[in-house]
Amino acid sequence: MEKFAFLIHPLDVRDVARKFPFTRHLPERVVEGVFRLVPPMKLSHITGIKTPYSEAEGWFVSCPLTARQMIALPEKFVYKRIIQTGRVAEKLGAKIMGLGAFSSVVGDAGVTIAKNLRIAVTTGNSYTVATAIEGAKEAARLMGHDIRTAEIVILGATGSIGKVCTLLLAREASKMTLVARNKANLEELAAKVLYETGLSVKITDNVKQSLANAQVVIAVTSATDTIIGPQDLMPGAVVCDVARPRNVSRRVAEERDDVLVIEGGVIEVPGEIDFGFDFGFPPGMAYACMAETMVLALERRYENFSLGRDLTVGQVEEISRLAKKHGFKLAGFRSFERAVSSEEIEQVKERARQRRKEAVNMG
Ligand SMILES: NC(=O)c1ccc[n+]([C@@H]2O[C@H](COP(=O)([O-])OP(=O)(O)OC[C@H]3O[C@@H](n4cnc5c(N)ncnc54)[C@H](OP(=O)(O)O)[C@@H]3O)[C@@H](O)[C@H]2O)c1
Repeated sequence: MEKFAFLIHPLDVRDVARKFPFTRHLPERVVEGVFRLVPPMKLSHITGIKTPYSEAEGWFVSCPLTARQMIALPEKFVYKRIIQTGRVAEKLGAKIMGLGAFSSVVGDAGVTIAKNLRIAVTTGNSYTVATAIEGAKEAARLMGHDIRTAEIVILGATGSIGKVCTLLLAREASKMTLVARNKANLEELAAKVLYETGLSVKITDNVKQSLANAQVVIAVTSATDTIIGPQDLMPGAVVCDVARPRNVSRRVAEERDDVLVIEGGVIEVPGEIDFGFDFGFPPGMAYACMAETMVLALERRYENFSLGRDLTVGQVEEISRLAKKHGFKLAGFRSFERAVSSEEIEQVKERARQRRKEAVNMG
């Protein structure tokens, strides 16, 4: 039996309150202050992962810091907490640990964590990229966009996930805009895209402006608050929101029935998996980064895999191949915690067509 661990942490204090209801009545900063002192712990035993080639079990290990704290607290302190969580995983017998949510965003994206642990480490970002692109392309197709001619925007393009998403999409696309706050990093990436794919891309630090004409958006920034609101998108836009916490405001789902927002990287796991902990997904489904950790364990590839901010297209292709071999696959479309059927997508497409027509008629 192969063994892995996956580090999870509360995205915000509402996540803490789901596990510890008494905290609901306390001010946010008080809850964060208290949880800063709580040591990492085992959260649950994960069982039932079975494929034609191998079996695996694992553990959720918890690092009790919110996304905001992971970004705002001193890096050394956050590293220490994540490494302590890795020690819990080592004691449980895991041979590889996946870094969930912001534990893979902190500092050098897993490199320092891996150096300080005896077990292998991965951020899970290669499989996250593979499934985000697969999902976004299929959703775009269903909404009537041709990826080769569509206006594509990547928010967070210079990040670990965004960069390799950009390089992969640039092989097919003809109109791309890359968005991040640091202009120098954007210029460097634009030069790399031109050199590797021949495509000349636009760059900007203005999220709202970039979205005005966007038909396909990959949202993968590490912003801790939402950055896409209901007024930002044009009718018929498709947004693949890979970020956790989300980049897209829930108000988009409430106020815009003519755009399609899908979650990136929701994966069906082979076997009868029991996570022993409710992280908000239906039974049998995992985030792509969790799935990458499982796949590496199933393959007995106990080696550091996706680390740092320079992932390669080769890594993305390799993990996709291995995941497919073991029977992992994209789990349909989900949007704000619920499944989206192809009939619903058809309705969104029709409403978008109507809105565009009304806009033309109004002059
Ligand atoms: N769904 C999944 O399975 C899964 C798996 C792994 C990670 N994730 C999530 O994916 C997101 C990104 O992860 P990562 O590892 O790629 O992070 P990263 O390497 O830190 O990259 C973050 C990117 O976002 C940009 N950014 C940050 N704040 C921004 C803002 N306010 N406006 C515009 N751009 C902004 C950064 O550039 P600047 O600093 O220059 O702005 C950078 O390009 C996180 O939310 C993470 O939790 C999801």
